[in-house]
Amino acid sequence: MPEKKILVIDADVASRNFIARTLSEQKYEVIQAGSGKEGLIYSWRDRPDVVVIDPTITDITGEEIARKLRQDARTAQMPLIALSSDPSVVRIKACLDAGFNEYITKSGQAVPMLTETINRLLGISNAAIKQGGLLMVILSAKGGVGTSSLCANIAMNIAQNQPEARVVVADMVLPIGSIAPIVGYTGNQNIVTITDMPPAETTPEFFQHQLPEMNLWRFHLLAGSPDPESSNHLKAGRMMDIIAALKASYDFVLVDIGRALSRITLPLIQHADLVTLVVSTDPSAVSLTKTLWDYLKNKGVDSSSIYTILNRAVGLEGLSKTDAEKILEIEINSTIPYLGNNFTFANNHNQPYVLKFPKDTAALVFKEIAKDMSALAHRSRAE
Ligand SMILES: Nc1ncnc2c1ncn2[C@@H]1O[C@H](COP(=O)(O)OP(=O)(O)OP(=O)(O)O)[C@@H](O)[C@H]1O
Ligand SMILES: [Mg+2]
Repeated sequence: MPEKKILVIDADVASRNFIARTLSEQKYEVIQAGSGKEGLIYSWRDRPDVVVIDPTITDITGEEIARKLRQDARTAQMPLIALSSDPSVVRIKACLDAGFNEYITKSGQAVPMLTETINRLLGISNAAIKQGGLLMVILSAKGGVGTSSLCANIAMNIAQNQPEARVVVADMVLPIGSIAPIVGYTGNQNIVTITDMPPAETTPEFFQHQLPEMNLWRFHLLAGSPDPESSNHLKAGRMMDIIAALKASYDFVLVDIGRALSRITLPLIQHADLVTLVVSTDPSAVSLTKTLWDYLKNKGVDSSSIYTILNRAVGLEGLSKTDAEKILEIEINSTIPYLGNNFTFANNHNQPYVLKFPKDTAALVFKEIAKDMSALAHRSRAE
């Protein structure tokens, strides 16, 4: 395994040297920066695996460094650890809000805590992301085309097709999630409250036992942000290790991204075993989807892990499958017919479509899509 690189940003030269020496002894390659400005440059240029920052640094504050790193796609998901001479609660909160993954106060115990934290954060990015359950993301270029209804119904059908499999749905649509109202979840737990928890508590065991199970739906739910104000406080830096923990305790992790493609959700899409694109049949949705797909290709998403669903959410008119394929320049894997009011009716009753309308041909389509998607995700993982 190549040596992992750690950047230490600290204005105090004695403290910096001490941390660097300790980490070098642990077989980490260490880079040092004596100012915030240097630290930012090295983060973007050298792409360390972890950055350790004393937030009391003065040329640019630690909080500002974290915000700048989080705003840049190259470093948006980089693990950031505050190793701070300021033990105040106000500072801790400010740093975590700014995007630090962890806050450690300089003390006698700081060194073992720092190495334990680094090992844990690296363990997550190395192993867990590539292992565990299959990760399927569902997204679209436009809102209202059915990603949430499809995500819930496909998850339910995967669970029904494979009763031994453990399935979880995570709603990551910002600023407001919408899976909870579809499946009838009214509890207070959601992605914002979960990312707020201390990292040591969001373990695979926690997600295995503490996520609500949606009975008729046969899956567990990590509900989305309840309102825009909460979503502003979402600790985006925690997203990947939470997904890794979900993968460690479930066989299938379905993530509704909706049209909320952003620097927060892009890494999820890049790590997914299957990327499901939902396209509605109006010409503007199809051409926007083409733009989205071109972007994803540029970001390294492979066409062999794409699954495209043409959903006639807007009624009977609109482009045919062949016309849509011509514009998209990718094959459409499945088409969901226009279901009139039935889909909305099933959603309003918090019921899976296949239970509410078992004889409808669309029920069969959902079953087939669930089968196709899990087969394709397995294949894409094996490659
Ligand atoms: N094939 C279809 N036939 C009829 N109605 C549909 C179809 N697909 C979706 N709908 C309806 O469209 C509405 C929007 O669906 P949904 O909330 O799943 O979309 P979304 O893409 O998640 O939207 P948002 O952008 O708001 O998150 C729902 O009322 C749903 O019942
Ligand atoms: Mg939605």
